[in-house]
Amino acid sequence: MSARLIDGKKIAEEIENELKAKVSKMDTPPKLSVIQVGDDPASTSYIKAKSNAAKRVGIELTHHHLSTDTTESDLCSLIGRLNSSVDGIIVQLPLPKGLESALNEIEPENDVDGFHPVNLGRLVQGKSGMKPCTPAGIVELLYRSGNDPKEKKVVIVGRSTIVGKPLSLILSQKGVDATVTLCHSRTPNIQSFCKEADILVVAVGSPDTITGAMVKPGVIVIDVGVNRTDSGLVGDVSSDVKEIAGQLTPVPGGVGPMTVAMLMSNTVDSASKN
Ligand code: GUN
Repeated sequence: MSARLIDGKKIAEEIENELKAKVSKMDTPPKLSVIQVGDDPASTSYIKAKSNAAKRVGIELTHHHLSTDTTESDLCSLIGRLNSSVDGIIVQLPLPKGLESALNEIEPENDVDGFHPVNLGRLVQGKSGMKPCTPAGIVELLYRSGNDPKEKKVVIVGRSTIVGKPLSLILSQKGVDATVTLCHSRTPNIQSFCKEADILVVAVGSPDTITGAMVKPGVIVIDVGVNRTDSGLVGDVSSDVKEIAGQLTPVPGGVGPMTVAMLMSNTVDSASKN
């Protein structure tokens, strides 16, 4: 039997409608600044999706598009100016080499991507703070699709700073109460861990990382991969996983729209504190 698809697009729409209702009660619309350095085509397409979502929700999004020869000091001074005038700032990644430390210039309360060391530190400590959008979106997707991770064995494949690591922290927090295993490229016999998972999250960035033979029948699979191939956009799991899994997020239309919805949610939360 084929796995039930978890419709991230529909759940993201639900969240956007809730946010739209909140924004309509605010005196001024929340303000979000998106900084892009260079012309990475994937970044341009992500920013378009964010801009469209902002329009739907009623957030005022400004796109600052800078050239590849932007210096660190140019970027820092733009962030410095925006810090005092908007509710949220994101710098679209990847950045050209040498500019990464500018990210730390974003005030933690404006860091709607949740990447600032202060926000990541608060996550480690289990305190409230801005949470990274993709992990927060995955957790929301689980709850809203009726898959409470409490007492479940969750296996995450991929230890990135944006997805795998923060997701392992959120899921293992008191109150969420999943038991988490974080696997990575140096994990020996990764299949033995995947086979045990009630919920398997794959965030590696490479097609066909997980095949049907590697998973337990009935498992819930969250595919975070976005890989542009000759045959279109594909995730990190093989197509035969559908035949074994109980539920699966599609690519596109699974985690991607949830990341965007959580960015909107962080921006609205930040604006309601300002
Ligand atoms: N590049 C890929 N994903 C993301 C994201 O969530 N935020 C930013 N700023 N850049 C990205």
